[in-house]
Amino acid sequence: MAPLRGVTVAEFRLCHEKRFGGIDYAVAPFIPLVSRLKAPEKLIKDVLPENCGRVRTVPQVIGREPAQLTAMAEALRDAGHTELNLNCGCPWKFVAKKGRGSGLPENEAVFAAMLEAGCNAMPDGFSIKIRLGRNTSDTLTNRLDLINRFPLREVIIHPRTGIQMYGGEVDMRAFEELIHRFNAPVVYNGDINSVEDYVRLVTRFPGLPGVMIGRGLASDPFLANDIKAWEATGRGSVPTLPHSRERMSEVAEFAAELYERYRSTLFGPSPVLGRMKELWGYLYKYFENSGRLLREVQRSSSFA
Ligand SMILES: Cc1cc2nc3c(=O)[nH]c(=O)nc-3n(C[C@H](O)[C@H](O)[C@H](O)COP(=O)(O)O)c2cc1C
Repeated sequence: MAPLRGVTVAEFRLCHEKRFGGIDYAVAPFIPLVSRLKAPEKLIKDVLPENCGRVRTVPQVIGREPAQLTAMAEALRDAGHTELNLNCGCPWKFVAKKGRGSGLPENEAVFAAMLEAGCNAMPDGFSIKIRLGRNTSDTLTNRLDLINRFPLREVIIHPRTGIQMYGGEVDMRAFEELIHRFNAPVVYNGDINSVEDYVRLVTRFPGLPGVMIGRGLASDPFLANDIKAWEATGRGSVPTLPHSRERMSEVAEFAAELYERYRSTLFGPSPVLGRMKELWGYLYKYFENSGRLLREVQRSSSFA
């Protein structure tokens, strides 16, 4: 499960695992690195053990200060984590222009220092999630030798540039050229929205160590399970999976349970409605002719 800030938060991950499953592990939405880590339990609340349940959950951090990474990793280790992922892909301008997210790999020395800090802080458990570059698609290629100097647990590649944000084509040719050049296992991420998309991907890359799915899973919570079912057939014929009435009501119950959970964990209508609007922005796709209802949900300012 990919990290989607504001969507794949603890409640979503727990509820998804309980109702749908199919996920091997989740990378949680990013935790910002801060200069003085006074109350780490607040910042890392989303990944505290009681908020991870039985789902293997990898915390993710975003930042550019190795000392801050070391301090945060210590707090996460104290909370029982043995894995950590570094966000090297966030495309937002205000993040990237400060050398964080997709801006981090642009600065070779700072990037190297962050990789070193991460590998030291989480031996055997440190990974990165990265794009092809920020403004151009050659940064990752130019950082290959550097990345290969570190014993990373895995490299998750979203083959877009930062300025593409989340739209436009994923660059499969670039991914194909890169995949065999890393020492660490490579995980693919981007635009897997159906079993068919997954089948196409693993047919082209049969030995792919892993696939990370974000928006596809938020739009179709059955997706990971359906993929697992296809894998269990020995990659046989691709099933047609109608959005049956039963499935639709399971998805609706999922949303209803999340609504209840948010109402009990968040304060006031605004944050709860914010979360639900974001969630329905993906989930509405599961239902037919739901565009008009979605617009009503997104305009609403009260629980009623
Ligand atoms: C609303 C939203 C929030 C996101 N938050 C994060 C995040 O916290 N950390 C991260 O590494 N990527 C984040 N991403 C990127 C996704 O993890 C993923 O790389 C991207 O959506 C492409 O994969 P997909 O097509 O399967 O969704 C976010 C994307 C969206 C749309």
